[in-house]
Amino acid sequence: MEEKNKSEMQIAREFVYYSQNAVTSGNMIKDDLMKAGRMDIAINVLISAFFLSHDVRKDVKLHLIFEGPPTPPVHILIEYDEDLAISKKDVAGLIKRILYKCPSEKGKTVKAFPGCFVEKKSFEALVDELDKSGKNVFLLDKKGTDIRDLKLNGNEVFVLGDQDGFPDSKRHLLKRIDKITVSPKMLFASQVLTIVHNEIDRKEISQ
Ligand SMILES: C[S@@+](CC[C@H](N)C(=O)[O-])C[C@H]1O[C@@H](n2cnc3c(N)ncnc32)[C@H](O)[C@@H]1O
Repeated sequence: MEEKNKSEMQIAREFVYYSQNAVTSGNMIKDDLMKAGRMDIAINVLISAFFLSHDVRKDVKLHLIFEGPPTPPVHILIEYDEDLAISKKDVAGLIKRILYKCPSEKGKTVKAFPGCFVEKKSFEALVDELDKSGKNVFLLDKKGTDIRDLKLNGNEVFVLGDQDGFPDSKRHLLKRIDKITVSPKMLFASQVLTIVHNEIDRKEISQ
């Protein structure tokens, strides 16, 4: 196999964004995204996950878990696909169209668009699945091990919450997950994601 030079080394990035209130029906995404269970935050997270200036990141998987009305939970997976025409200007429209395609029964996954999958799956089931598949799942939290002290190899999954963080019902699950911090400040979810990318970008260069 051809040896990759340093500038070609890429560490994959996988994120889980959890929102207790983000709506689970495309019909409920209207002009005011804040009233759709703060869908504006999910959209900012998606933009930070994938978009660079005049480019997109190809090495990203973003899981969105929405637990708002009317039919929670919904799990959306978005990953880079060259056939997905994703525009920064219409991320709300994309999420809306993905939600329209969500199957009503559990255990069925629908490919809504190239690189976009939707199913009825809970946060707990997703974290469990990632864990069992051998991923290192980390909770992004203001208090935790500094991300700069971690040796990252692309097998990591970073879990983060919306403006309300995580409800008490998730506490027993989250207690089992190692926490990592990116800053001494409490940041917006999208800002945290940008910093994680930046830390990994810097590690790639220094490898
Ligand atoms: C706006 S914050 C949530 C604030 C919420 N009131 C709470 O107490 O969790 C959104 C998410 O960003 C992540 N986060 C915020 N600041 C962080 C930091 N300094 N380091 C790592 N993750 C952070 C956490 O996952 C958090 O759930």
